[in-house]
Amino acid sequence: MFFKKTKEMPIELDNLPKHVAFIMDGNGRWAKRRGLPRLMGHNAGTEMLKRIVIESKKLKIENITFYAFSTENWRRPEDEVNGLMDILVKFFRSEIDEIVENKVKINIFGDIDVLPKYAKTEVLRAIERTQHHTEMNFNIALNYGGRDEIIRAVKEIATEYKSEKIALDDIDESLFSDHLFSKGLPDPDLLIRTSGEQRLSNFMLWQVAYTEFVFDEHYWPDFDETLYRSALIKYQKRHRRFGAI
Ligand code: FPP
Repeated sequence: MFFKKTKEMPIELDNLPKHVAFIMDGNGRWAKRRGLPRLMGHNAGTEMLKRIVIESKKLKIENITFYAFSTENWRRPEDEVNGLMDILVKFFRSEIDEIVENKVKINIFGDIDVLPKYAKTEVLRAIERTQHHTEMNFNIALNYGGRDEIIRAVKEIATEYKSEKIALDDIDESLFSDHLFSKGLPDPDLLIRTSGEQRLSNFMLWQVAYTEFVFDEHYWPDFDETLYRSALIKYQKRHRRFGAI
């Protein structure tokens, strides 16, 4: 009997990252290359985000974080900002039932108080409906900035110190981490940025201290399951030492 060779890649299922963070870059360039408006790129990017969430769930990766909107993204043209808010709302409205069925928990990293009211309402509803879920943390960084997150933590800790809730010696890495949006979650083991850019852009500055980075050349809407798996394989080939030898 003749067996066909499968295309399955040799991913080690027992050595997967516990937390993968994504900088979904290149939606605008993806659209431009096709002569389409930028928002079409963000729409295509959202479709890929869904596929990557599903693939992560299949692989039993417990925590995934997507950089959807930064504190700096408000500087984009009003049409694009409004379009991104609409995409977010549409995403939650159409996907929330499936997210709930799959027992996935939505966490938002960032201050959602300044979002347009209709977007904030939808986000809060999604958080509320998924609060008690434990299958996977699906984190969305929204109006998020790494420096902003650190300043917030410093202010909260200073307030606790001033009111004598904590002593100076109580301040350590663990206490600091507990004041971040990612409280209680492991730091990312792997960060993937698409589109060939190789920078952090103010993303999870504290949490990526020992994270492995994979920079992929493809624009985010083209970053499919196969490319995701090859990024995971690259991660598996790295030798993580955490400062030891
Ligand atoms: C970066 O590409 C992408 C963004 C700033 C937005 C990403 C947001 C989404 C894909 C929507 C997320 C939706 C949900 C539901 C979480 P860019 O526009 O900066 O690309 P460019 O560098 O090619 O211009």
